[in-house]
Amino acid sequence: MKVIIRENASEGSLWAAHHIADRINAKKAVSDKPFVLGLCTGSTPIETYAELIRMVKAGEVSFKNVITFNMDEYVGLPEEHPESYHSFMHKYLFDHIDIPAGNIHILNGNAADPAAECEAYEKAIEAAGGFDLFLGGVGEDGHIAFNEPFSSLSSRTRVVTLTYDTRVVNARFFDGDWKKVPAQAMTVGVATVLGAREVVILAFGHKKARAIKDAVEGPMSHYCTLSGMQNHPNGTIVCDELSVGELKVNSYRYFKAVEAAENL
Ligand code: GLP
Repeated sequence: MKVIIRENASEGSLWAAHHIADRINAKKAVSDKPFVLGLCTGSTPIETYAELIRMVKAGEVSFKNVITFNMDEYVGLPEEHPESYHSFMHKYLFDHIDIPAGNIHILNGNAADPAAECEAYEKAIEAAGGFDLFLGGVGEDGHIAFNEPFSSLSSRTRVVTLTYDTRVVNARFFDGDWKKVPAQAMTVGVATVLGAREVVILAFGHKKARAIKDAVEGPMSHYCTLSGMQNHPNGTIVCDELSVGELKVNSYRYFKAVEAAENL
């Protein structure tokens, strides 16, 4: 696993956006097959999406041959609700880029048969050829997508119950009232994310410092589902100085040295 450490969230976001665009352009240069991209929500990726929008408008990258699958969605929240992940993705990315509507996939949190919806999602990912790159964030408790602590590292797309902690953290989007945050979500599993050929995780701010310490230095454990990244052959966590605040000095120096040597 690589850990890229940038001075602040803006610089980390720029790194991530340019990295994603480079990967899309690199595949386009050698193949007609679509680039399959996993995407996340949350406040963390907003600047990355803003830079990708700028790059599309500047003609530096195109999403015409990109297929996306989002990682999660609340259960029971209407799609048009301003805090649904459908609304979020259109507001912060899809409405501003050249992606064909048919290439966008987001779990339907209102499906009549949730289990069938989750199974069909896994099949659609497989039919698209699997993920070229999965972009994710991390929760304060180390969750990846909505795979809360003690989710199996072998988990696949399914309905999950959100922890009290996550509902409290997300209450800021629901009038500060944790009870208004849906109690359940649909999420890709840890194994779904880790099945991607490349995984890039964004973690900015001091509130993510414990999750980063557990994921990077702790044992690989269902306690911190992001730690599953330790077993991925091509995983990168993009941090700022604040989110690496709990790492050992020697770990910090190691990642900085790799960055410098590889010119990342
Ligand atoms: C939610 C999402 C995660 C996201 C996390 C962090 O729990 N399901 O995918 O990584 O929030 O959000 P933020 O970026 O706002 O800190």
